[in-house]
Amino acid sequence: MTDMDTRRKTTESERLLEKAKAHLVDGVGSGTRSTRSGWLPSPVFVAEGHGSRLTDVDGNEYIDYQMGQGPLILGHRPQPVIDAVTETINQRGSLFALATDLEGEAATAVAARMPSVEVLRFGQSGTECVMYALRFARAGTGRNLIVRFEGHYHGWSDAIHWSAHPSLAEAGPADAPAVTPATTGIPPEVGESLLVLPWGDVEALEKAFDRHGDDIAGVILEPILGNCGGMMPPEGWLEKLREVTRDNGSRLIFDEVLTGLRVGPGGAQRLLGVEPDLTVMAKALAAGFPVAAIGGTAEAMEVVTEGKTMHGGTYNSNAVACAAVIATMAETGRAGFYEELVANGERLAEGLVSAARDAGVNAHWTGVGSMFQLWLSDEPPRSYRHAQELVAASPFPTLQREMLDRGVLLQPPQEGLFLSSGAHTGADTDEVLAVAREVMPIVADAIERGEVGPVGGVR
Ligand SMILES: Cc1ncc(COP(=O)(O)O)c(C=O)c1O
Repeated sequence: MTDMDTRRKTTESERLLEKAKAHLVDGVGSGTRSTRSGWLPSPVFVAEGHGSRLTDVDGNEYIDYQMGQGPLILGHRPQPVIDAVTETINQRGSLFALATDLEGEAATAVAARMPSVEVLRFGQSGTECVMYALRFARAGTGRNLIVRFEGHYHGWSDAIHWSAHPSLAEAGPADAPAVTPATTGIPPEVGESLLVLPWGDVEALEKAFDRHGDDIAGVILEPILGNCGGMMPPEGWLEKLREVTRDNGSRLIFDEVLTGLRVGPGGAQRLLGVEPDLTVMAKALAAGFPVAAIGGTAEAMEVVTEGKTMHGGTYNSNAVACAAVIATMAETGRAGFYEELVANGERLAEGLVSAARDAGVNAHWTGVGSMFQLWLSDEPPRSYRHAQELVAASPFPTLQREMLDRGVLLQPPQEGLFLSSGAHTGADTDEVLAVAREVMPIVADAIERGEVGPVGGVR
């Protein structure tokens, strides 16, 4: 077999990409699906998904570790959720913009899971619910400044899409990062409402609160860094954030868009034992249907409960969304669901590290079994900036391409982030590890030849 024979077929995907470009910007619906994000020679054009697997329009089959960028906690086309949604549509309708019993039922099911969430409202996207969290924090405290951390992603809004993944050239001093817009088109004055701090730096945190405490409305963070290398928080750091924000009367906001209902039954807050005032949830909340939520303590949400602060949306808690949430909570609420999900993922992570090391490539993994990142480097990352340095020397593009050619789908812009589901089996893990044992020597050769460097950076 020649080298070319091992490449997957992409002819039809490439044809569809060119055709779509006529009227769909760049031929894809989101920048993360673009060739610029590392999907080469063309984005995967999906024919259908089932369980842990995807088939593309060229007939290639993949075990999927992108899982819709996180939502597909039950795999593709989970029957109980599909049944609940179709039954709701057929028997009731899809949207009323009026109250239904389903809204309260869905809210009750979610609040029962998340320790700090007493009350909540549903929305459609993580971005939107993060914006509401910032609004509720400002309204509830009467203050303006929001503290955010370098490397964390909180959606694409003007309000917070700053210093998410800055280049090292624009990031400024490590102990006092620059407030840098993450895209063009954001009004510069919005940056004046933000303070960017390095993750895990107690001294920088205390200094910021000493100087600006009277004006700090809230601190927002990803409690486990799904968008920054799968890093776990440093020992005691979340507790420190809790203490400082409580003492200062500021809101602590957990962005659990990715971690909530994925890293465990009650998100990162239950796993790590720290309760924020406000929590944003999305993704695994509805197993693939577009649903997000903003919730919190009764006190932090009081501004909405009492009608002082606006919250609305035509599509909020529509019947389809609520049916999907209720069914997802029931399915993921089964005894042992998360234990199995996490254990399967950990076996995969350990096996990938062994396969790499056996081929002479040093490796580590970070995160939790259901959301972990594989690092082909001498050490795991300590910070956002360290992660960027590791990515710059990483052979991940070779790993991603060779795995994809052998039927294992990893998302290139996320540099080795594995998102799995309850539909991934032990047999899937065995198959992926067999593929990894074939691919790691190729990765070792790529390192030898100096073929390293970022696709999309760490994000
Ligand atoms: C932690 C986090 N917050 C917010 C968002 C934005 O959510 P959405 O894409 O639903 O707007 C994402 C999306 O990946 C995310 O991972």
